[in-house]
Amino acid sequence: MKKTHKKSKFVETKYLNLKQSPVEQTLKNIEIEALATIKKASSPETLKEIEVEYLGRKGKLTHLLRGLKDLPKEQKPFFGKLSNEIKTNVERSFANKLQELENQKLKKDLSQEFFDTTIPAKKRKVGHIHPIYKIQEEVEQIFNNMGFSIMDGPEVESEYYNFETLNIPKNHPARDMQDTFFLQDKDDEKHGRFVLRTHTSPVQVRAMEKYGAPLRIIIPGRVFRYEATDASHDSTFDQVEGLLIGKDVSLSHLKGIMAEMLSTLFNADVKVRFRPGYFPFVEPGLELDFSCLLCEGIGCKACKNTGWMEFMGAGMVHKNVLKAGGVDPEEYQGWAFGFGLTRLAMMKHLIPDIRLISSGDIRFTRQFN
Ligand code: DAH
Repeated sequence: MKKTHKKSKFVETKYLNLKQSPVEQTLKNIEIEALATIKKASSPETLKEIEVEYLGRKGKLTHLLRGLKDLPKEQKPFFGKLSNEIKTNVERSFANKLQELENQKLKKDLSQEFFDTTIPAKKRKVGHIHPIYKIQEEVEQIFNNMGFSIMDGPEVESEYYNFETLNIPKNHPARDMQDTFFLQDKDDEKHGRFVLRTHTSPVQVRAMEKYGAPLRIIIPGRVFRYEATDASHDSTFDQVEGLLIGKDVSLSHLKGIMAEMLSTLFNADVKVRFRPGYFPFVEPGLELDFSCLLCEGIGCKACKNTGWMEFMGAGMVHKNVLKAGGVDPEEYQGWAFGFGLTRLAMMKHLIPDIRLISSGDIRFTRQFN
């Protein structure tokens, strides 16, 4: 009878929860005690202490669990399972309580923290547009307002567009005016070798081919020359090309447009003048100067005492160039110009050395913020 009772004990406790063995009772008591203590913990620090008290290496629960190994073999599965459940339960309770206490602490910290809304914000360091591209945007805006579209072309150009279409045939001495970098690759027979474009003028022909006439465009872009560098020459610089093609186009339009562009850009009353000049792609060709901004025409070091600043090349587009672009010279005429954007930026900001512009020295660029 006694024996049977002992054997059936697990069945009773497991399913009816009537009588519990002393081991089971101790285990459950520890569980109840641990859960109650955890519940009362008022800070993460005390909670930590409680955790050590129960689950630490010498903790109450740990101690008890270790003792289970001495139980009779047949009781082990039941107590093993029970003790695992208790352990998991206590551990979960610790984790939940810790989360709860930390949330409380955070809320308290935030509500107690004084937040001064009048403190000036920290200035964030952001970059800014390079002086060359700042002036490019200004120039684009001004021309755009006068009805010009902005166009783009390839920096790696063919000999055909860079020279031939612009009335500079092979072996013509004018090619020497713009010695450049050639690539090893060749385009086809017609287009010749690839070159780094020496000017933005080839886009004139590309635009005529694509859009025909009439046309009113500017082409800002980077150009390259095989050049010994000094304070006013660099092998890489930026230009702005202009092209206006229509039925009644004259150089007086060019004069008006350039005076307007420069006056707006410099926010002053800028005068322009023409001088004769030679460029193979225009006839007649000319040079345009504008009145010196520093001395207002009196004469100073900047304008070499002439009162004028040399600014750009221009002229009436040569018949051969119109033809190369597929435009009929009997029906249309136009003018073109090309100026150095880099030089313009240097004049506007009084930059003494062109090499500073692409030096990458932030002490230089930061001055134009
Ligand atoms: N392409 C010339 C250069 O780079 C500048 C130029 C001169 C452009 C006269 C023109 C022009 O369109 O008509 O030196």
